[in-house]
Amino acid sequence: MAGEAPARVAVLLSGRGSNFLSLHAAMGRGEVPARVVVVVSNKSKAAGLAKAVELGIPAVAISRRGCSRQQHDQRVLEVLRQHRVEWVCLAGYMRLLSPSFVAAFPRRILNIHPSLLPSFPGLEAQRQALQHGVRVSGCTVHLVDEGLDSGPVVVQRAVTIEDDDTEDSLATRILVQEHCAYPEALSRLLTRRWSVKGRRIEWHGAAPRPT
Ligand code: GRF
Repeated sequence: MAGEAPARVAVLLSGRGSNFLSLHAAMGRGEVPARVVVVVSNKSKAAGLAKAVELGIPAVAISRRGCSRQQHDQRVLEVLRQHRVEWVCLAGYMRLLSPSFVAAFPRRILNIHPSLLPSFPGLEAQRQALQHGVRVSGCTVHLVDEGLDSGPVVVQRAVTIEDDDTEDSLATRILVQEHCAYPEALSRLLTRRWSVKGRRIEWHGAAPRPT
């Protein structure tokens, strides 16, 4: 909201980090009233972690090796507390969060998934869509609950599937939409009044006018 300090966001990732970069860039352009204060990965070699270092953003690797899901999540939570994180954006974070992690940030954790949920949750969503033969897929940004890719939907963007699409070509076109959908979703949540009713997010009042 106008005049308020930017929201403090943590990005959790396991891989290349293109969604992290698109969020960071949108924040830099003033399109999302937030900033990435820390990037955390369960993979020390994740390319996204190296990009955070290049950008001067604190980057922390926390290996899963030798600890339970619960212990790992507690270590991640400690880092988020140290950085006074308010919102968590999962961006290709290949781990299911424990219920205690989800409870630590109620309705303040977002995930992006490369299909139109509730179709094709879980791994290899683009392959699932092609194998099923659907003609439209896309991406979904949703609030995270304790299930797999199952929380309330914030933003979806559709992508038409072409006859000659491969998993790679479809993933590439969906990724372009992901890079718009994630900043749009976070911006909406930060600038609009909203509540959750059942599975739905209800938006209250008019959208702010673009400045
Ligand atoms: C994206 O396709 C996202 O939807 C999925 O994992 C991929 C992450 O890509 N959850 P990147 O690391 O952000 O480039």
